[in-house]
Amino acid sequence: MITLKDVKVSFKGLEKPALDIPFLQIGDGVKLAVTGISGSGKTTLINILCGLENINSGSIMWDNAALHSFSQMQKDRFRGENVGLVMQDFYLYGGLSALQNVLLPSKLRYFCVPKTITKRAVYLLERLNISRYYQNVDMLSRGEKQRVAIARALANAPKAIMADEPTASLDKESGTEVVKLLVSLADEFKATLICAAHDRVLIDKMDCCLGLEKDKKVEASFS
Ligand SMILES: Nc1ncnc2c1ncn2[C@@H]1O[C@H](COP(=O)(O)OP(=O)(O)O)[C@@H](O)[C@H]1O
Ligand SMILES: [Mg+2]
Repeated sequence: MITLKDVKVSFKGLEKPALDIPFLQIGDGVKLAVTGISGSGKTTLINILCGLENINSGSIMWDNAALHSFSQMQKDRFRGENVGLVMQDFYLYGGLSALQNVLLPSKLRYFCVPKTITKRAVYLLERLNISRYYQNVDMLSRGEKQRVAIARALANAPKAIMADEPTASLDKESGTEVVKLLVSLADEFKATLICAAHDRVLIDKMDCCLGLEKDKKVEASFS
């Protein structure tokens, strides 16, 4: 369970906080869409939930772990262990195969990647319909690239998957496939899924929705 209390995030040059969250709770296994117009704070919310962005005040608890009190290094480690991130652009490493991309974060963490992780990576790529996973990712379509990014996000069995508009740079058809797979994998692994989304298909597949509005406080609980 993720619990935010009295959280404010301000940026230089903005008169009011980009986010003002007296209370927000997201239960385990929830599938939450975060919606709102451009600039309403969706990306900032995803980033503070996973420790990529710092908050100015308040607290962010992941069960008993006080993320807000961690050093940047502890946050990065916590994110590596608990969060699978999927961004709008895929951030895959060209020149490497799909499988190498999926295993890269584990390569950085372990001297020798455990067999269970390699097995899981292959399983995920197959589930995500990437059959040519030994091929250079440069050869893949945008939809396939995003599916590889999803396999990478899930390789380490994260508690939560956070996706920032994962279908925004895809055509409708590949976007729909990505949404289906993302949701069914979150179910299969009982992971919490938090998606910033514009896409109606994506929003409709989630259990609940948090609508962000500029200068509006957030007080909500999802379970
Ligand atoms: N690093 C930053 N520096 C300054 N302002 C920022 C920064 N990141 C976001 N903002 C501002 O915070 C607000 C929310 O942005 P963002 O979270 O990117 O919204 P969304 O993802 O919904 O489009 C916007 O007004 C944006 O300009
Ligand atoms: Mg955004």
